[in-house]
Amino acid sequence: MPLVAPSLLAADFADLGAQVRAADLAGADWLHFDVMDGHFVPNITFGPALVRACRPHSAKPFDVHLMIAQPSVYAPRFVEAGADWVSFHLECGEAPADVLRLIRSLGRRAGIALKPATPAEAAAPLLKDLDFVLVMSVEPGFGGQAFQPEACSKARELARLRAAGGLGFLIEMDGGIDERTAPLAAAAGVDVLVAGTSVFGRPDRARAVAALRGA
Ligand code: DX5
Ligand code: ZN
Repeated sequence: MPLVAPSLLAADFADLGAQVRAADLAGADWLHFDVMDGHFVPNITFGPALVRACRPHSAKPFDVHLMIAQPSVYAPRFVEAGADWVSFHLECGEAPADVLRLIRSLGRRAGIALKPATPAEAAAPLLKDLDFVLVMSVEPGFGGQAFQPEACSKARELARLRAAGGLGFLIEMDGGIDERTAPLAAAAGVDVLVAGTSVFGRPDRARAVAALRGA
């Protein structure tokens, strides 16, 4: 069964401690934090201070998705704030192998995130040196967008490369995941489902998390 990582992007920012506790109690496996810098993506969310403030509210792994231009500068600050799994974008302009090595040198799990237009092959040389690949199923920047089903072909290709290479990285999918699209992702080999709107936008979060996991 896939792991479920609710994205706090869709939670009430004025009440985040309670939202983190609610997602934890609802059965979340990880908690997903969407970091945007207004430069790599046309939106701004939050920095390490917010991750640090949330840390006491759950013992579940914190999954920090860096949609920023300079992950080498900021990844260590997010690690220090309590991040466990840290992904950054292959398209960010920095040398991805170096950033992966940096995150791992800090004792955390390191991942590459791929925008919809970036093929799986672009990540192929890195797959032996990472812990997870985040496949975006929407353009990064905003929650609540429609799922792009082509992301499933990319996940399948990554799963194929993983099997061919005898590798053990996880495949995460992020964007437009709900009860209808989660089964498509799971069938494509996705291990971790990120869901914002379809968890925090529902009155019964435990039911929402269970529905996604049931995929
Ligand atoms: C988009 C973010 C996603 C997104 C998921 O840039 O990376 O995590 O918020 O939100 P939903 O589930 O609403 O598509
Ligand atoms: Zn995300």
